[in-house]
Amino acid sequence: MPTALVTGVTGQDGSYLAEFLLSRGYQVIGMVRRTSTINFDRIRHIQDQIEIVQGDLLDQMSLIAILQEYHPQEVYNLAAQSFVPTSFTQPVLTGEFTALGVTRMLEAIRIVDPTIRFYQASSSEMFGKVVEVPQRETTPFYPRSPYGVAKVYGHWLTVNYRESYNIYGCSGILFNHESPRRGLEFVTHKITHAVARIKMGLADELRLGNLQAQRDWGYAGDYVRAMWLMLQQDAPEDYVIATGETHSVQEFVEEAFGYQDLDWQEYVVQDPKFYRPAEVDLLVGDASKAGRELGWEPTVDFRGLVRLMVDADLRTLQDPSQGYPSAAEEVPQR
Ligand code: NAP
Ligand code: GDD
Repeated sequence: MPTALVTGVTGQDGSYLAEFLLSRGYQVIGMVRRTSTINFDRIRHIQDQIEIVQGDLLDQMSLIAILQEYHPQEVYNLAAQSFVPTSFTQPVLTGEFTALGVTRMLEAIRIVDPTIRFYQASSSEMFGKVVEVPQRETTPFYPRSPYGVAKVYGHWLTVNYRESYNIYGCSGILFNHESPRRGLEFVTHKITHAVARIKMGLADELRLGNLQAQRDWGYAGDYVRAMWLMLQQDAPEDYVIATGETHSVQEFVEEAFGYQDLDWQEYVVQDPKFYRPAEVDLLVGDASKAGRELGWEPTVDFRGLVRLMVDADLRTLQDPSQGYPSAAEEVPQR
């Protein structure tokens, strides 16, 4: 039975990845940081199948101790401060988690067992003020937030440890991916949750920032499969993972409100509070390398994604005692 360590297992991607690895017969070690209250909502349905261990990307010794105790063959580094606006208000902390955290994990691997295969959660935010459309593996980076800058650091460090120490390290340059498990402050879930609340008479307004920003949005359940595929190749490489389609925030709003026969213009208020000091205007990825070499492609399109998120929010609001369904229940046709 192969063993995989997943950092950030309580996050959106960590929960889907753990579910995916379990379905492939892995022993999954989920690293969580200590909190005063437990936040295992996203992994509740698989919690008894995962070995939960305490560790923190800020703490070098905890990472070394986990690798020494569990001997994983694969490490998926998904933990990060991942919310772009927070990176503007807490840039130093974001650098500690999202940039230096990668160094700590790679150092732990180098010291304990350099044969461990390593996945780094890189981001399309690294392309920022894009210099090429669509963005591919060779597109130069131009990050537009402390988060994006921190991710560029983690990305190049992964490349550097591959070239310096021959570590099997891959960076997945993932474009935005969403799901019912997405944090509520991210724009997609903020919108679908508001639509469900408005539909149920629980709210009458949605305040948003820049409606013109364009993103390449996919389904998180598809994207974790790509992470695993990257670590199963003969040689480590970096891959863009994206749908190849881009939509504005306004289009997402229109689709979500329209799905519930609501006129978005009656509810949406633009609020400068949600504008960012520097914006990423347009992201659209070219995942043809992943298609060719990994055989990866997305299974959920834009409309399917919006609808499954609205449906899930309506279900949860109707019966808050429900936990998250598995990815297979969410998208049965995959
Ligand atoms: P998420 O939902 O915000 O989850 C982040 C996870 O990191 C949580 O489990 C969090 O733990 C953990 N974490 C934060 N700081 C930590 C620390 N110091 N030590 C240990 N764990 C820590 O993010 P996500 O959407 O799943 O994204 C996963 C990764 O992919 C992130 O690195 C993100 O930057 C990157 N990424 C995401 C996307 C996307 O569209 N989702 C696209 C490209 C790249 P708590 O639960 O305790 O907060
Ligand atoms: N969060 C948020 N809230 N964003 C808003 C709002 C709002 O009220 N109104 C408009 N937006 C716009 C933002 O300005 C941004 O252009 C876009 O919606 C998407 O914002 P987010 O959903 O917060 O995601 P992100 O693109 O900044 O970052 C996500 O994707 C990255 C990959 O490109 C995060 O998951 C990052 O961790 C990830 O790396």
